[in-house]
Amino acid sequence: MSRFEILYNLIGSGEVFADVGCDHGIISKMVLDGGKYKKVILSDISAKSLEKAKSLLSSYGDRVEFIVSDGFCGYKTTPNCAIIAGMGGEEIIKILSGDILPSELVLAPQKNTDKVRMHLLDNGYKILKDFTFYSQGKFYDAIKAEKGKDFYEPKEIIFGRDNLKEKPEGFIKKINYDISVLTSVLDDENASKLSKEMAKLKLAILKDIVK
Ligand SMILES: C[S@@+](CC[C@H](N)C(=O)[O-])C[C@H]1O[C@@H](n2cnc3c(N)ncnc32)[C@H](O)[C@@H]1O
Repeated sequence: MSRFEILYNLIGSGEVFADVGCDHGIISKMVLDGGKYKKVILSDISAKSLEKAKSLLSSYGDRVEFIVSDGFCGYKTTPNCAIIAGMGGEEIIKILSGDILPSELVLAPQKNTDKVRMHLLDNGYKILKDFTFYSQGKFYDAIKAEKGKDFYEPKEIIFGRDNLKEKPEGFIKKINYDISVLTSVLDDENASKLSKEMAKLKLAILKDIVK
C-alpha cells in the first residue's frame, strides 16, 4: 500500500476536513473522491505549494477552500478533522499549540514522533492508532488521535503503542535496520569508546523488542 493509502485509511468521515501543509493536495483529493468529508480546507505556508493543490482540485467547486496559512493561523473555523503529514514533529507541535484544535487528528511526523505523542497526551488527546510502516523504500510513523484522555508508558512514548503491542512488519523492519546501524558502530575501529557504549545500550533495548 502507498503512504497516501495508509494515511487515507486513518481518516474518518464528517463535515469539514483540513489538510495542513497540503502541498500537492493528493490526500485531500482522495478524501473528496471517497466522499469522507463534505468540505476540505487545503492550506500551506507556501503559496507556491498551494498552487499545486489548486491545480489538482480546481474542479471541486465549493467543496474546497484554499488558504495560505502557517498552521491554523488563517483558519476562521475549527475543522472536525485535520491531517498534518510530511513535516517534522516540532513543527506539528507548534501547529497544535494554538486555539484551533480539531476533534480528530491524523499525523505523520517525519521525525520527533515521541515529542508529538507527549504533546498529544499532555493536551487532551487520546491516541487511537500509532504505528510505523514501510512504503516505497522509506519508513514512516502514523498517528490517529481524538479528543480524550490517555496514558502511555515511557517505552510507548519512545516507540509507539501499536508498534510494541502488535509489532507490525514495518516497525520490525525499522528496528532491524537500526540494529544494523548500531552494530556497524561497534565494528567501527574509528568510533569513540563513548559512542560504542551508547550503541551497546541502545542495542540491548532494540534487541529486547525484536526477540
Ligand atoms: C513534504 S510536504 C508534505 C505534503 C503532504 N502533506 C504529504 O504528506 O504528502 C510539507 C508541506 O508542509 C508545508 N509546511 C511546512 N510548515 C508548515 C506550516 N507551519 N504550516 C503550513 N504548511 C507548512 C510545506 O510548505 C510543504 O508544502
